Order: sequence, then structure tokens, then C-alpha cells
Amino acid sequence: MQHVEQYLTTNASRFEEELKTLLRIPSVSADSRHNGDTRRAAEFVLAQMQGMGLTAELVETAGHPIVHGQWLGAPGAPTALVYGHYDVQPPDPLDKWISPAFEPTVRDGCIYARGATDDKGQMFTHLKSIEAWMKTVGKLPVNVHVVIEGEEEVGSDNLDKYLDDHRTQLKSDVGVISDTSQFAPGVPAVTYGLRGIVAVEVTLRGPRQDLHSGVFGGSVANPVNQLARLIALLHDDQNRIQIPGFYDDIPPLSDVEREWFAKLPFDAAADLQKLGIDSGWGETGYTTLERRWARPTCDVNGIFGGYQGEGPKTIVPSFATAKITCRLVPNQDPVKIVKALEKFLRDKCPAGIKLEFTDGHGCPACAVDTKSPYIGAARKAIQAAFDAEPVMIREGGSIPVVATLRQILGIDTLLLGWGQNTDNLHSPNEHFRLADFHRGIRASAHLWQELAQVKRA
Ligand code: BES
Ligand code: ZN
Repeated sequence: MQHVEQYLTTNASRFEEELKTLLRIPSVSADSRHNGDTRRAAEFVLAQMQGMGLTAELVETAGHPIVHGQWLGAPGAPTALVYGHYDVQPPDPLDKWISPAFEPTVRDGCIYARGATDDKGQMFTHLKSIEAWMKTVGKLPVNVHVVIEGEEEVGSDNLDKYLDDHRTQLKSDVGVISDTSQFAPGVPAVTYGLRGIVAVEVTLRGPRQDLHSGVFGGSVANPVNQLARLIALLHDDQNRIQIPGFYDDIPPLSDVEREWFAKLPFDAAADLQKLGIDSGWGETGYTTLERRWARPTCDVNGIFGGYQGEGPKTIVPSFATAKITCRLVPNQDPVKIVKALEKFLRDKCPAGIKLEFTDGHGCPACAVDTKSPYIGAARKAIQAAFDAEPVMIREGGSIPVVATLRQILGIDTLLLGWGQNTDNLHSPNEHFRLADFHRGIRASAHLWQELAQVKRA
């Protein structure tokens, strides 16, 4: 371990330069104009894996390629399946970035770029820790499969088939993902639950084309008005979701967990203030952390229709569209929720409007066994690198592969976030504290050692 640690110190600035090279590639999975860039990012990851002595290949899919690397030279020791993603969210709105999204820039100890924390920077910590072991000790204390995909930000649609087709080859004991967050600066965490998600798009169509609102207004349903009405009906004045059956399968939050959340060092007012908000919002009867981690949502992510240009225009628009996502909690079934949402909207849609409904990606929520010995190993590795005891938390984001790993490979995943939830993931000026990047690499290097001590089930 001493040689490994030494290697991490000696090579720290090279690691940063390599991360910058990856961050310069605009691998936006949602935008087909970036397909070439997305492939270049995959090739960069492939070259990294090959360079450190993994057996690695680029796996073609119906979408963006998956990079798989493996090293299986520790017979009898556990096998970890490390997952990460090289794709990133769109950088928009571009004018809100202080330095351009794909020109990584270091300011105040943080590296700024789209993907800095989500997930290029965090994913890279595992590649570098594996490299450190391979280049110093010449081997790892555990076996590893490394699966880095390029479609996480668009729902991981082609990953399930890959995992299913390769379930024998990929047989592992535990998943390892760094794509979550620490609880707060100086308070590292192991995340034991994530919310699931369903994403849909709904379009209301009215007249064949935009109409003069003076000639026709008031006599035909306005799709934008009606979409706004439907959206408003989604919540009551307690901010509870009004879709029939939406909450049916959710067990009540246990007192133990509520007490645990309440004990975490969290100041809701200060947190909201950092977001530029002077008051919270959410389902009556729940705290901010409960609302974020353990309660479902129904949010409009974008809405369009009607005239968007400068100055006034007087029309009844011909259509309106909304992109809607629901975050789900354990036991909610994504398929059932999408059906219930569609029925709700259709039932409330007035005559004179045609409703089109498109079902997008989805994944169930996940909860991992907090008593697993692998969690104990992860806690020790984090303690060694961060010099602080990690807290156990849930988080509100979604990582579709976690449920798939459970379903297809029968394994639980260690969710070990090195970033902060204030790192502006999915937002302008995304960043990753370089100290967290290096602590993450160190924790990962310790993790291989600690996992090797775990008796396989
Ligand atoms: N890194 C996030 C997931 C995340 C964010 C976990 C914050 C915990 C806290 C991941 O890359 C992500 O954004 N996932 C998408 C998944 C979706 C597109 C299926 C998400 O949560 O919106
Ligand atoms: Zn993301």
C-alpha cells in the first residue's frame, strides 16, 4: 500500500492533466451531433484501461459504445464490478458558464467543466487507483470488471441488454459506483438508497395551426392554457401528487430512518439560501431531507408551445408540450406509475384537445443492504482517505444500473460519492474539488485492499 500511496502522490498532477483531456471531449449523449465526440470519449477510456494492463474492449451497442475492462488475476478474492459513465448532460445554458463547459479550468482548487464530477472525474478515480496498483504492485488484491457506459444521462437503455448478454462473464460479488455525493464538505458518505425515475413527454394538440386569438380566442381550447391546467392538477395544496394510486405501494418511512435523517448535520434554511431560495416547498409533513431522499416527485423539466420570440404576438397556439419526470421511491413500479400518469392526464384533458403521450426511460428506486460486509470495507477505505468517519445517507438522484445489477447479476452496489451536491451537476459551472478527486483516488486504492479481506458469500 505504501508504494501505491507514493505513486498517487508522484503522479497527482498527471492525473489532473489526463482528466482535463477527457473533460475537453463534449460527450453529450442526448445530442446526436456529438456522436463522434461520445465515441472519442469511449476510446479515451479504452486507451486508459489498456495502458494500465486491463484486458479491455469497446462494445458496440444500438447507441453509444460501452467500454469494458477486466483483470481477474486474484483467484478466490472477491470480484468488484466498477461502473461509471463517460457521457455528460448538455452544457446549456451556455451563457451562464464562467469558463466554457468543455475548456476545463481550475479556480479556487476546483476543476470546472461539464462532467467534472458527473461522472468523468468521479469515474476516473477508480481508473487511477487501479493503475496505481498495477504499476507498483503489479496486481490488484481483488478481481475487477470495469464497465463505463455512454448513455447514463439518457436512461442507460442499451446497458441492460449488454449486462444480460454477458451475465456469465461479468459474474461479480459487489458493484462499485462513484456517481453520488458526500453529505457535506468534510462529511464523506456511503449512499444506501437512490430514487428511481420515469420520464415522459406529453403534447396537447388543438387547432391545425396557430390561430388569431382575437378571431378565435375563447371559442377553442388553448393547448398552452390546458397544459398549464393539467400540470397544476398534479399537486394539491398540501403538495401531494394527485395521480390515483401514485402512493399506494409506498411503505411509510420508518421512525428509525426519520430519526437518523434528523440527526445528520443539515441546516435546511442555510441549504436553501445557497440555492437562492428563501423558503422550501414540498409534501406537507416531511422534512427537506425526507422530501429529497425518501418521497416521490412529479416535476416538469421543460415546457414549450406558443410564441417564444421577442415582443407580443396574439395567437391561440396549435400545440404545447411538457417533459415530465417522476422520481420514485422503493416499491413503486415504474410501469404502473407511467400508466397511472397517462390515465390521469387523459381523464382530465378537455374535448377539443388531442393528447399525445410518449413514454421515455425509467428505472426503479434502489435500497442496498446496510449490513453487508462490503459496506464495512468501504467505510474503512473512506476513513483512511478522508480522515473522517463516513455517514450513511440516501440520495434523490437515480442511477439505473444499480437496479439492473441487482436484477441481472444478483449483487448490491457500493455507492461511494466523492463530490458534493453543490458541485453544480447538470447545471452551469459544474466543478469537482481537486482535493476530493485525489481523496477519491486514495479511497478507491484502499477499497481494493479492504474488499480483499471480505469473505465471499
Ligand atoms: N450522478 C447522477 C445521479 C445522482 C445525482 C445520484 C445526485 C445521487 C445524487 C447521474 O449521473 C444522473 O444524473 N442520473 C440521471 C438518471 C436518469 C437520466 C435516468 C438522473 O438522476 O437524472
Ligand atoms: Zn448526471
